[in-house]
Amino acid sequence: MTAAPRDRALATDPGRQAEFDATIAADHRIEPRDWMPEGYRKTLIRQIAQHAHSEIIGMQPEGDWLLAAPSLRRKVILLAKVQDEAGHGLYLYSATETLGADRDELTDMLIEGRQKYSSIFNYPTLTYADVGVVGWLVDGAAICNQVPLCRSSYGPYARAMIRICKEESFHQRQGYELLLTMMRGTDEQRAMVQDAVDRWWWPSLMMFGPPDADSPNSAQSMAWGIKRHSNDELRQRFVDMTVPQAEFLGVTLPDPELALDPETGRHRFGAIDWVEFKRVLTGGGPCNAERITRRRATRDGNAWVTEAATAYAEKHA
Ligand code: 3HC
Repeated sequence: MTAAPRDRALATDPGRQAEFDATIAADHRIEPRDWMPEGYRKTLIRQIAQHAHSEIIGMQPEGDWLLAAPSLRRKVILLAKVQDEAGHGLYLYSATETLGADRDELTDMLIEGRQKYSSIFNYPTLTYADVGVVGWLVDGAAICNQVPLCRSSYGPYARAMIRICKEESFHQRQGYELLLTMMRGTDEQRAMVQDAVDRWWWPSLMMFGPPDADSPNSAQSMAWGIKRHSNDELRQRFVDMTVPQAEFLGVTLPDPELALDPETGRHRFGAIDWVEFKRVLTGGGPCNAERITRRRATRDGNAWVTEAATAYAEKHA
């Protein structure tokens, strides 16, 4: 990605660095027209682009249930959620463009494996209960991870997150309400919910990233105010938030070591399988190939729309 002209011209201006540092130290926002260190810009493009990729790829697992939703009400809710995710991707790609990134190039990087998307979306949605569990756990984890980003030091990212987090709250509530309904249903429905929880719990904890000790980006991202909390801090916050919700729902979280520590008020939990995490990140998850194949097909299948819109815009510019 090429640096915006202003950055190249000012890349070595020490006065600007001091101004940037003072802005970050004062917890104020950096805006697109402000000078910024090239590393700050690149880190933002990396994180925001991968966040956007996650939103778009994340449409697939739930989208698979749009035609099989059990009622018109459930179909309408799910349709609204999947459409929201597309909008989240739009806001976030737009934020990367304020940093000089090119949306088509980012999509190519995703499809060619040169950029990532969240590991969580490489798992299949095997039953309808998965739709509820994805809303409850995956969007619940997203809320934990993304609310602090509303205070990210980069203005366009923070403002996009404010809008996104409002919609994530709806996503999480609709999932939990769906599960409450199923848990008040038949034994078979309750078993379906428990099976989905068993499959999605540990991958949801992996959404927060590797342990802090193995997180090469966290320290710098936190120093720049891009991230506000570490991976482990937010993971712990999610576990503490989710345990009482699971109890109220009547499901068991699949971790025999999960226990409240009365001294700290936090929950201890078992070891996460980081070997599985690394396997999924390097393409070995259950759905990696399917997700990218479908993303490539939509990019290539819709190319004519982009070409037509571009031609029209150029003709009528
Ligand atoms: N899946 C895929 N890659 C992951 C990952 C995950 N769950 N967790 C970490 N990684 C990658 C990082 O991207 C980084 O690789 P890179 O340098 O090539 O980008 C590497 O593993 C090391 O991780 P770090 O902790 O050093 O990286 P970060 O400081 O970027 O932290 C993060 C990772 C916590 C995901 C952070 O990037 C972040 O908070 N991103 C914004 C939120 C986001 O992207 N959430 C993804 C889910 S979107 C979603 O939930 C949609 C909702 O509608 C359901």
